[in-house]
Amino acid sequence: MTGFGNHYSTEAVAGALPIGRNSPQAVPFGLYAEQFSGTAVTAPRAENRRSWLYRMRPAASHPPFAPYAGASLLRSAPFNDSLPSPNRLRWDPLPVAAQADFVDGMITVCGNGDVAAGFGCAVHVYSAGVSMGNRAFFSADGEMLIVPQQGTLDITTEFGRMMVAPLQIAVIPRGVRFRVDLDGPSRGYVCENYGAPFRLPDLGPIGANGLANPRDFETPVAWFEDGDRPSELIQKFQGGLWSTTLDHSPFDVVAWHGNLAPYRYDLRRFNTINTVSFDHPDPSIFTVLTSPSDTPGTANADFVIFPPRWMVADATFRPPWFHRNVMSEYMGLIEGVYDAKAGGFAPGGGSLHNQMNGHGPDRATYDRAVAADLVPHRIADTMAFMIESRHVLRPTRWAMETPLLQGDYDTAWDGFAKALLPR
Ligand SMILES: [Fe+2]
Repeated sequence: MTGFGNHYSTEAVAGALPIGRNSPQAVPFGLYAEQFSGTAVTAPRAENRRSWLYRMRPAASHPPFAPYAGASLLRSAPFNDSLPSPNRLRWDPLPVAAQADFVDGMITVCGNGDVAAGFGCAVHVYSAGVSMGNRAFFSADGEMLIVPQQGTLDITTEFGRMMVAPLQIAVIPRGVRFRVDLDGPSRGYVCENYGAPFRLPDLGPIGANGLANPRDFETPVAWFEDGDRPSELIQKFQGGLWSTTLDHSPFDVVAWHGNLAPYRYDLRRFNTINTVSFDHPDPSIFTVLTSPSDTPGTANADFVIFPPRWMVADATFRPPWFHRNVMSEYMGLIEGVYDAKAGGFAPGGGSLHNQMNGHGPDRATYDRAVAADLVPHRIADTMAFMIESRHVLRPTRWAMETPLLQGDYDTAWDGFAKALLPR
């Protein structure tokens, strides 16, 4: 099913979805009706997100949760285990040979905000080598935007199944139970968004089309597992990890309807907009999804991509310019080369440029750009992304102590010659 934020109706067994009433006295086949609310039920209609699930057992049917000892490097806001560094930071990719599954393979790089106050986000990287099998996970703290960089993820959710390969993303709403099975060693990134759910940005003068078009978002159809084998269910709640064991599969939703559901998006479908005269617009022109804050135009978190595109601007410095920004920026690279850096930023790696600290092209990129013959030029075979936030992204202790942290990143901006003024 396609479209962003549509109201869907789907049933895996004909006749399972009640007609008219959300909660009839008797649900077909003895299924249990359950409302799943991602916004306050009183949220304005345009903001309101909820679905009705018809399942074989109530989601409430489980023993108590007990503390879970795995995923020991998965962290939550507030991020206080390391003094926030003003330095530009860059990391090499995680090794991909990990024996962990998706949950235990997540490591938090940085984040901001406060899960208790419901704002901010975290950036995790994952490196996994085994499927979750009969384990399932959900975050009560935020929605999970998953960006695979290597390996296709076979994601089973309460709402259905999605195959998500590199150059695609998946968004799992807060609270949705899911498992991730793998086709081999896998690596990627996760943005856990504690704030308002991601949505499409407004387009203003761009018009009715462009950037990520609503029709390209794919939502799974109802799919269920009629299984009675024990399943471990892990949840992240206020930063803590908890586990319980169900005597059945959590994926027993036979039918559902509503506008709150996981979705997939293929980044290659992004309709890239850019200049055809001079200068280039701010990178906000590449926004795929935005989580707004209470301040208009000032995002809790934006998910932005830098896809293949033509560069045609006249008399213009074409790479990203030097800048300092009130917003803070984490970048990752899915494939290829990012046009602001000649080296050091590898697929699977990451960089962090925080509030008001200068960054931009490295010396080699600058030298090449100012001397370039400005014919139309295609930036091909590349896909970088950025999580941009109004709140400073505070690195975790792991991120500051890992040998993957590059010690020489500042040298990217060494050796710029002094400008020569006329005498
Ligand atoms: Fe930047």
